[in-house]
Amino acid sequence: MENSTKKRIMSGMRPTGKLHLGHYLGVLKNWVSLQDEYECYFSIADWHALTTKYNQTSSMKEDVQNVILDWLSSGIDPKKSTLYLQSLVPQTAQLHIYLSMITPQNWVERDPTLKDLAKIMKDKQENVSNLSYGLFGYPVLMTADILTFNAHLVPVGIDQVAHVELSRDIARRFNNIYGFDYFNEPEPKLTQIPLLKGLDGNKMGKSFNNDIKLSDDEKTTENKIRTGITDRNRIRKDDKGNPDNCEVIFDYWKIFGSDDDKNEICSACKSASIGCAECKKRLAQKINEQLAPLREKRASLEKTPDIVKEILYEGSNKAQTKAQYVLDGAVDIIKMYK
Ligand code: TRP
Ligand code: SF4
Repeated sequence: MENSTKKRIMSGMRPTGKLHLGHYLGVLKNWVSLQDEYECYFSIADWHALTTKYNQTSSMKEDVQNVILDWLSSGIDPKKSTLYLQSLVPQTAQLHIYLSMITPQNWVERDPTLKDLAKIMKDKQENVSNLSYGLFGYPVLMTADILTFNAHLVPVGIDQVAHVELSRDIARRFNNIYGFDYFNEPEPKLTQIPLLKGLDGNKMGKSFNNDIKLSDDEKTTENKIRTGITDRNRIRKDDKGNPDNCEVIFDYWKIFGSDDDKNEICSACKSASIGCAECKKRLAQKINEQLAPLREKRASLEKTPDIVKEILYEGSNKAQTKAQYVLDGAVDIIKMYK
Protein backbone atom coordinates (compact mmCIF):
# COMPACT_ATOMS: atom_id res chain seq x y z
CA MET A 1 0.00 0.00 0.00
CA GLU A 2 2.77 2.43 0.86
CA ASN A 3 3.78 2.31 -2.75
CA SER A 4 4.97 5.86 -2.96
CA THR A 5 8.15 7.31 -1.61
CA LYS A 6 6.73 10.78 -2.01
CA LYS A 7 5.76 12.69 1.08
CA ARG A 8 2.03 13.15 1.51
CA ILE A 9 0.25 16.45 1.50
CA MET A 10 -3.28 17.05 2.73
CA SER A 11 -5.25 20.25 2.57
CA GLY A 12 -8.80 21.38 2.23
CA MET A 13 -11.23 24.18 1.71
CA ARG A 14 -14.76 24.72 2.87
CA PRO A 15 -17.24 24.89 -0.02
CA THR A 16 -17.96 28.60 -0.02
CA GLY A 17 -19.08 28.69 -3.66
CA LYS A 18 -17.34 30.39 -6.54
CA LEU A 19 -13.70 31.11 -5.69
CA HIS A 20 -12.03 34.49 -6.07
CA LEU A 21 -8.61 35.71 -7.14
CA GLY A 22 -7.36 35.58 -3.56
CA HIS A 23 -8.09 31.84 -3.38
CA TYR A 24 -6.38 31.38 -6.70
CA LEU A 25 -3.17 33.24 -5.86
CA GLY A 26 -3.08 32.26 -2.20
CA VAL A 27 -4.08 28.62 -2.33
CA LEU A 28 -4.73 27.04 -5.70
CA LYS A 29 -1.56 28.11 -7.50
CA ASN A 30 0.40 26.70 -4.60
CA TRP A 31 -1.47 23.40 -4.64
CA VAL A 32 -0.91 23.11 -8.39
CA SER A 33 2.83 23.54 -7.87
CA LEU A 34 2.95 20.75 -5.27
CA GLN A 35 1.29 18.08 -7.37
CA ASP A 36 4.41 16.56 -8.91
CA GLU A 37 6.65 16.48 -5.89
CA TYR A 38 4.09 15.18 -3.38
CA GLU A 39 1.26 12.70 -3.10
CA CYS A 40 -1.57 15.19 -2.64
CA TYR A 41 -5.03 14.89 -1.09
CA PHE A 42 -7.28 17.90 -1.51
CA SER A 43 -10.61 17.95 0.26
CA ILE A 44 -13.79 19.92 -0.15
CA ALA A 45 -14.64 20.10 3.53
CA ASP A 46 -18.43 20.06 3.46
CA TRP A 47 -18.73 18.78 7.04
CA HIS A 48 -16.63 21.71 8.16
CA ALA A 49 -19.05 23.99 6.35
CA LEU A 50 -21.86 22.49 8.43
CA THR A 51 -20.15 23.45 11.70
CA THR A 52 -21.40 27.00 11.21
CA LYS A 53 -23.93 26.68 8.39
CA TYR A 54 -25.92 23.67 9.49
CA ASN A 55 -29.12 25.62 8.90
CA GLN A 56 -28.09 27.21 5.60
CA THR A 57 -27.64 24.26 3.31
CA SER A 58 -29.74 25.28 0.32
CA SER A 59 -26.71 26.17 -1.79
CA MET A 60 -24.49 23.31 -0.64
CA LYS A 61 -24.69 21.24 -3.83
CA GLU A 62 -24.11 24.23 -6.03
CA ASP A 63 -21.24 25.43 -3.84
CA VAL A 64 -19.47 22.09 -4.01
CA GLN A 65 -19.96 22.02 -7.77
CA ASN A 66 -18.45 25.49 -8.13
CA VAL A 67 -15.45 24.67 -5.99
CA ILE A 68 -14.59 21.59 -7.98
CA LEU A 69 -15.01 23.50 -11.25
CA ASP A 70 -12.66 26.22 -10.00
CA TRP A 71 -10.11 23.67 -8.82
CA LEU A 72 -10.07 21.80 -12.09
CA SER A 73 -9.91 24.91 -14.23
CA SER A 74 -7.05 26.26 -12.08
CA GLY A 75 -4.96 23.22 -12.92
CA ILE A 76 -5.55 20.83 -10.04
CA ASP A 77 -5.10 17.62 -11.96
CA PRO A 78 -7.09 14.54 -10.92
CA LYS A 79 -4.48 12.34 -12.60
CA LYS A 80 -1.83 13.63 -10.23
CA SER A 81 -3.75 14.49 -7.07
CA THR A 82 -6.66 13.01 -5.19
CA LEU A 83 -9.52 15.50 -5.02
CA TYR A 84 -12.41 14.40 -2.90
CA LEU A 85 -15.48 15.41 -0.99
CA GLN A 86 -15.11 15.03 2.77
CA SER A 87 -18.58 13.57 3.33
CA LEU A 88 -17.88 10.86 0.74
CA VAL A 89 -15.02 9.55 2.86
CA PRO A 90 -16.77 8.28 6.01
CA GLN A 91 -13.51 6.88 7.38
CA THR A 92 -12.73 10.47 8.32
CA ALA A 93 -15.75 10.51 10.62
CA GLN A 94 -14.76 7.21 12.17
CA LEU A 95 -11.26 8.40 12.88
CA HIS A 96 -12.73 11.61 14.25
CA ILE A 97 -14.57 9.58 16.89
CA TYR A 98 -11.41 7.83 18.05
CA LEU A 99 -9.45 11.09 18.09
CA SER A 100 -12.18 12.93 19.95
CA MET A 101 -11.90 10.41 22.80
CA ILE A 102 -8.25 11.17 23.42
CA THR A 103 -8.39 14.95 22.90
CA PRO A 104 -8.56 16.86 26.20
CA GLN A 105 -11.42 19.31 26.21
CA ASN A 106 -9.20 22.26 27.12
CA TRP A 107 -7.06 21.66 24.04
CA VAL A 108 -9.95 22.54 21.75
CA GLU A 109 -11.14 25.32 24.00
CA ARG A 110 -7.83 27.16 23.72
CA ASP A 111 -7.64 26.89 19.91
CA PRO A 112 -7.40 30.58 18.90
CA THR A 113 -9.04 30.27 15.49
CA LEU A 114 -11.96 28.54 17.09
CA LYS A 115 -12.24 31.21 19.73
CA ASP A 116 -12.46 33.83 16.98
CA LEU A 117 -15.03 31.82 15.09
CA ALA A 118 -17.15 31.33 18.19
CA LYS A 119 -16.96 35.05 18.87
CA ILE A 120 -18.13 35.93 15.37
CA MET A 121 -20.99 33.49 15.69
CA LYS A 122 -21.95 34.93 19.05
CA ASP A 123 -21.77 38.51 17.78
CA LYS A 124 -23.99 37.64 14.86
CA GLN A 125 -26.63 35.60 16.56
CA GLU A 126 -26.39 36.56 20.22
CA ASN A 127 -27.42 33.07 21.01
CA VAL A 128 -24.84 30.74 22.45
CA SER A 129 -26.98 27.71 21.74
CA ASN A 130 -26.26 28.27 18.07
CA LEU A 131 -22.69 27.21 18.77
CA SER A 132 -22.96 23.52 18.23
CA TYR A 133 -21.09 20.61 19.72
CA GLY A 134 -19.79 19.95 16.20
CA LEU A 135 -18.23 23.40 15.97
CA PHE A 136 -16.03 22.66 18.96
CA GLY A 137 -14.92 19.51 17.19
CA TYR A 138 -13.78 21.60 14.22
CA PRO A 139 -10.05 21.22 14.81
CA VAL A 140 -10.41 17.57 15.77
CA LEU A 141 -12.30 16.88 12.55
CA MET A 142 -9.57 18.71 10.68
CA THR A 143 -7.04 16.52 12.47
CA ALA A 144 -8.97 13.48 11.28
CA ASP A 145 -8.79 14.83 7.71
CA ILE A 146 -5.05 15.09 7.97
CA LEU A 147 -4.28 11.93 9.92
CA THR A 148 -6.58 9.77 7.84
CA PHE A 149 -3.96 9.98 5.10
CA ASN A 150 -1.13 10.07 7.59
CA ALA A 151 -0.01 13.26 5.85
CA HIS A 152 3.39 14.80 6.47
CA LEU A 153 2.68 18.34 5.35
CA VAL A 154 -0.35 20.61 5.41
CA PRO A 155 -0.24 23.70 3.18
CA VAL A 156 -2.36 26.32 4.91
CA GLY A 157 -2.62 30.03 5.49
CA ILE A 158 -1.46 31.55 8.74
CA ASP A 159 -5.00 31.48 10.20
CA GLN A 160 -5.04 27.68 10.10
CA VAL A 161 -1.63 27.05 11.65
CA ALA A 162 -3.01 26.71 15.17
CA HIS A 163 -5.27 23.90 13.95
CA VAL A 164 -2.33 22.07 12.43
CA GLU A 165 -0.37 22.43 15.68
CA LEU A 166 -3.28 20.84 17.47
CA SER A 167 -3.13 18.02 14.92
CA ARG A 168 0.50 17.48 15.86
CA ASP A 169 -0.40 17.37 19.53
CA ILE A 170 -3.22 14.89 18.93
CA ALA A 171 -1.02 12.68 16.74
CA ARG A 172 1.67 12.64 19.43
CA ARG A 173 -0.87 11.90 22.13
CA PHE A 174 -2.30 8.98 20.17
CA ASN A 175 1.16 7.54 19.67
CA ASN A 176 1.95 7.96 23.39
CA ILE A 177 -1.30 6.55 24.73
CA TYR A 178 -1.29 3.46 22.57
CA GLY A 179 2.48 3.04 22.66
CA PHE A 180 3.01 2.91 18.94
CA ASP A 181 4.57 5.42 16.60
CA TYR A 182 1.71 5.33 14.15
CA PHE A 183 0.76 8.82 13.06
CA ASN A 184 3.17 11.32 11.57
CA GLU A 185 3.18 14.65 13.32
CA PRO A 186 1.97 16.79 10.42
CA GLU A 187 3.68 20.08 9.80
CA PRO A 188 2.11 23.26 8.45
CA LYS A 189 3.59 24.34 5.15
CA LEU A 190 3.27 28.08 4.95
CA THR A 191 3.40 29.77 1.59
CA GLN A 192 4.85 33.19 1.06
CA ILE A 193 2.39 34.83 -1.23
CA PRO A 194 1.55 38.45 -1.82
CA LEU A 195 -1.70 39.19 -0.07
CA LEU A 196 -4.34 40.35 -2.50
CA LYS A 197 -6.59 42.97 -0.98
CA GLY A 198 -10.22 43.34 -1.89
CA LEU A 199 -11.12 46.20 -4.23
CA ASP A 200 -12.19 48.35 -1.27
CA GLY A 201 -8.86 47.83 0.50
CA ASN A 202 -10.19 45.31 3.05
CA LYS A 203 -9.49 41.60 3.06
CA MET A 204 -10.82 40.02 -0.13
CA GLY A 205 -13.90 38.00 0.64
CA LYS A 206 -17.24 36.98 -0.66
CA SER A 207 -19.12 38.51 2.24
CA PHE A 208 -17.57 41.95 1.66
CA ASN A 209 -18.58 41.97 -1.99
CA ASN A 210 -15.11 43.26 -2.93
CA ASP A 211 -13.78 40.27 -4.81
CA ILE A 212 -13.17 39.22 -8.38
CA LYS A 213 -14.31 35.70 -9.04
CA LEU A 214 -12.31 33.37 -11.24
CA SER A 215 -15.52 32.73 -13.13
CA ASP A 216 -16.51 36.40 -13.61
CA ASP A 217 -16.67 37.40 -17.26
CA GLU A 218 -14.40 40.05 -18.72
CA LYS A 219 -16.91 42.85 -18.53
CA THR A 220 -17.76 42.10 -14.90
CA THR A 221 -14.07 42.07 -14.06
CA GLU A 222 -13.60 45.43 -15.72
CA ASN A 223 -16.59 46.90 -13.88
CA LYS A 224 -15.38 45.61 -10.54
CA ILE A 225 -11.87 46.96 -11.07
CA ARG A 226 -13.40 50.33 -11.80
CA THR A 227 -14.53 50.42 -8.15
CA GLY A 228 -10.98 49.80 -6.85
CA ILE A 229 -9.34 52.29 -4.52
CA THR A 230 -6.62 54.51 -6.02
CA ASP A 231 -4.43 57.34 -4.73
CA ARG A 232 -6.99 59.22 -2.67
CA ASN A 233 -5.19 62.52 -3.26
CA ARG A 234 -5.56 62.23 -6.99
CA ILE A 235 -8.93 63.78 -7.64
CA ARG A 236 -8.73 65.23 -11.11
CA LYS A 237 -7.10 63.57 -14.07
CA ASP A 238 -4.39 66.23 -14.30
CA ASP A 239 -3.42 65.84 -10.63
CA LYS A 240 -0.15 64.00 -10.47
CA GLY A 241 -0.55 60.65 -8.76
CA ASN A 242 1.67 58.57 -6.55
CA PRO A 243 1.51 54.79 -7.00
CA ASP A 244 2.94 54.33 -3.51
CA ASN A 245 -0.28 55.80 -2.16
CA CYS A 246 -2.48 53.89 -4.58
CA GLU A 247 -3.84 51.43 -2.11
CA VAL A 248 -5.40 48.81 -4.29
CA ILE A 249 -4.95 49.33 -8.00
CA PHE A 250 -1.18 49.70 -8.02
CA ASP A 251 -0.93 46.73 -5.65
CA TYR A 252 -2.73 44.70 -8.27
CA TRP A 253 -0.30 45.95 -10.90
CA LYS A 254 2.54 44.66 -8.73
CA ILE A 255 0.98 41.23 -8.81
CA PHE A 256 -0.37 41.04 -12.34
CA GLY A 257 1.98 43.33 -14.27
CA SER A 258 5.44 42.71 -15.71
CA ASP A 259 8.34 44.90 -14.60
CA ASP A 260 7.90 46.94 -17.76
CA ASP A 261 4.19 47.41 -17.06
CA LYS A 262 4.91 48.60 -13.54
CA ASN A 263 7.57 51.09 -14.63
CA GLU A 264 5.38 52.43 -17.37
CA ILE A 265 2.33 52.86 -15.14
CA CYS A 266 4.42 54.35 -12.38
CA SER A 267 5.88 57.13 -14.50
CA ALA A 268 2.63 57.75 -16.36
CA CYS A 269 0.82 58.10 -13.04
CA LYS A 270 3.43 60.43 -11.56
CA SER A 271 3.38 62.69 -14.61
CA ALA A 272 -0.39 62.57 -14.90
CA SER A 273 -0.11 61.33 -18.47
CA ILE A 274 -2.51 58.54 -17.60
CA GLY A 275 -5.75 58.87 -15.66
CA CYS A 276 -7.01 56.34 -13.15
CA ALA A 277 -9.84 55.25 -15.43
CA GLU A 278 -7.41 54.34 -18.20
CA CYS A 279 -5.04 52.70 -15.73
CA LYS A 280 -7.83 50.51 -14.41
CA LYS A 281 -8.96 49.60 -17.88
CA ARG A 282 -5.48 48.39 -18.73
CA LEU A 283 -5.25 46.46 -15.48
CA ALA A 284 -8.54 44.74 -16.24
CA GLN A 285 -7.19 43.75 -19.63
CA LYS A 286 -4.10 42.32 -18.00
CA ILE A 287 -6.07 40.27 -15.50
CA ASN A 288 -8.54 39.11 -18.12
CA GLU A 289 -5.67 37.94 -20.32
CA GLN A 290 -4.21 35.91 -17.48
CA LEU A 291 -7.51 34.35 -16.54
CA ALA A 292 -8.61 33.62 -20.11
CA PRO A 293 -7.28 30.03 -20.33
CA LEU A 294 -8.75 29.19 -16.95
CA ARG A 295 -12.14 30.64 -17.84
CA GLU A 296 -12.14 28.79 -21.14
CA LYS A 297 -11.48 25.54 -19.35
CA ARG A 298 -14.22 26.27 -16.85
CA ALA A 299 -16.73 27.01 -19.59
CA SER A 300 -15.99 23.69 -21.24
CA LEU A 301 -16.20 21.76 -17.93
CA GLU A 302 -19.53 23.39 -17.16
CA LYS A 303 -20.93 21.67 -20.23
CA THR A 304 -20.12 18.22 -18.84
CA PRO A 305 -21.37 18.17 -15.24
CA ASP A 306 -21.51 14.36 -15.26
CA ILE A 307 -17.82 14.09 -15.98
CA VAL A 308 -17.04 16.60 -13.25
CA LYS A 309 -19.13 14.63 -10.79
CA GLU A 310 -17.39 11.44 -11.86
CA ILE A 311 -14.01 13.03 -11.13
CA LEU A 312 -15.15 13.88 -7.62
CA TYR A 313 -16.51 10.39 -7.06
CA GLU A 314 -13.40 8.70 -8.38
CA GLY A 315 -11.22 10.89 -6.22
CA SER A 316 -13.37 10.15 -3.19
CA ASN A 317 -13.07 6.41 -3.86
CA LYS A 318 -9.33 6.68 -4.08
CA ALA A 319 -9.29 8.68 -0.86
CA GLN A 320 -11.45 6.02 0.83
CA THR A 321 -8.98 3.27 -0.01
CA LYS A 322 -6.09 5.09 1.62
CA ALA A 323 -8.25 6.25 4.53
CA GLN A 324 -9.52 2.73 5.23
CA TYR A 325 -5.99 1.42 5.35
CA VAL A 326 -4.92 4.04 7.88
CA LEU A 327 -8.12 3.64 9.92
CA ASP A 328 -7.71 -0.17 10.09
CA GLY A 329 -4.23 0.32 11.50
CA ALA A 330 -5.48 2.74 14.13
CA VAL A 331 -8.33 0.44 15.15
CA ASP A 332 -5.85 -2.43 15.59
CA ILE A 333 -3.54 -0.31 17.68
CA ILE A 334 -6.40 0.81 19.94
CA LYS A 335 -7.21 -2.92 20.27
CA MET A 336 -10.86 -2.70 19.30
CA TYR A 337 -12.72 -6.02 18.94
CA LYS A 338 -12.85 -7.20 15.38
N1 TRP B 1 -10.34 24.53 8.06
C1 TRP B 1 -9.84 24.79 6.75
C2 TRP B 1 -10.27 26.22 6.33
O1 TRP B 1 -11.28 26.68 6.76
C3 TRP B 1 -10.33 23.82 5.74
C4 TRP B 1 -9.87 22.44 6.03
C5 TRP B 1 -10.66 21.38 6.36
C6 TRP B 1 -8.53 21.94 6.01
N2 TRP B 1 -9.91 20.26 6.53
C7 TRP B 1 -8.61 20.57 6.34
C8 TRP B 1 -7.29 22.53 5.76
C9 TRP B 1 -7.46 19.79 6.44
C10 TRP B 1 -6.15 21.76 5.86
C11 TRP B 1 -6.24 20.39 6.20
O2 TRP B 1 -9.59 26.81 5.53
FE1 SF4 C 1 -3.33 54.26 -9.06
FE2 SF4 C 1 -3.18 53.99 -11.68
FE3 SF4 C 1 -4.54 56.02 -10.63
FE4 SF4 C 1 -1.92 55.97 -10.48
S1 SF4 C 1 -3.11 56.07 -12.35
S2 SF4 C 1 -3.32 56.48 -8.82
S3 SF4 C 1 -1.49 53.80 -10.24
S4 SF4 C 1 -5.03 53.86 -10.43
